[in-house]
Amino acid sequence: MDLGIKGKSALITAASRGFGLATARQLAREGVRVSLCARGQTDLEQAATEVQAAGREVWGEAAAPVTTAAVDVTDAQAVADFVAQTGPVDLLLVNAGGPPAGGFTELAEQQWRDAYTLTIESAVRLCRLVVPGMAERGWGRVVMITSVSVKQPVDNLLLSSVLRPAVQGLVRSLAVQYAASGVTVNAVAPGFHTTSAVERLIAKKIEQTGCTVQDVLDGWTAEIPMGRLGRPEELAAVVTFLMSEGAGYLTGQGIVSDGGWVKGTF
Ligand SMILES: NC(=O)c1ccc[n+]([C@@H]2O[C@H](COP(=O)([O-])OP(=O)(O)OC[C@H]3O[C@@H](n4cnc5c(N)ncnc54)[C@H](OP(=O)(O)O)[C@@H]3O)[C@@H](O)[C@H]2O)c1
Repeated sequence: MDLGIKGKSALITAASRGFGLATARQLAREGVRVSLCARGQTDLEQAATEVQAAGREVWGEAAAPVTTAAVDVTDAQAVADFVAQTGPVDLLLVNAGGPPAGGFTELAEQQWRDAYTLTIESAVRLCRLVVPGMAERGWGRVVMITSVSVKQPVDNLLLSSVLRPAVQGLVRSLAVQYAASGVTVNAVAPGFHTTSAVERLIAKKIEQTGCTVQDVLDGWTAEIPMGRLGRPEELAAVVTFLMSEGAGYLTGQGIVSDGGWVKGTF
């Protein structure tokens, strides 16, 4: 299936591992020029090599270039410089490291502020920098990574369960505002996937309860009708579809990709 995005330019934040990296690889295979950021330079260089290799599998020497910048999405100036360095953006993946695990009584006020800065402020800032330009050019695709916590609170992930729904509110608001400008805005809400974010959740659970890795995995998979965690490539495939030309009439949605974990009807 031709997704119709060859030659477009993508900006992907938090992309040296996990969902960001998996999406960058898939977009490179579609012939998209990809610009990646994360904080750690070493992982970022490794990621750029992998993304370039994915593009070359399909396009050989004609593969689109990959650029990187070591940027923390909570640093306003660094993000503005990154966007300026990238130039006009057609495809934007709004992604960041997740807020830390924790329940109501153990989270300090500063952790709430930090989580707001990481999860909401960074998303708003990126959209302010990128979306008006898309609208002026009459075409754009914005996808934000959220979490199943937008549909159903997740045990011990209070910051995510409270703040992620606000990101879905941003998605819906921007989708309406820019609907007539050729710009779609959607979110993908992952359930449990095999990335380093989940390894951190497992470590936290072990610290809190003294259980084993297998206990944690057994507990999660018992609640997932598919009986397994997702792969980052599966999530990236959903993101890539939402960024395609063919998904042009789909906007304002939060697509849950969770192996059936959320039990609500809608
Ligand atoms: N994996 C899951 O099961 C799951 C489920 C629901 C929601 N999510 C959410 O999906 C998002 C991506 O998760 P993932 O599983 O792909 O995580 P991951 O594998 O841990 O990768 C996180 C990426 O984000 C970068 N990053 C972290 N903080 C950053 C910051 N402040 N500025 C720039 N880059 C930053 C990391 O690189 P550096 O550390 O070098 O910056 C890394 O490249 C997170 O918000 C996570 O909470 C994940």
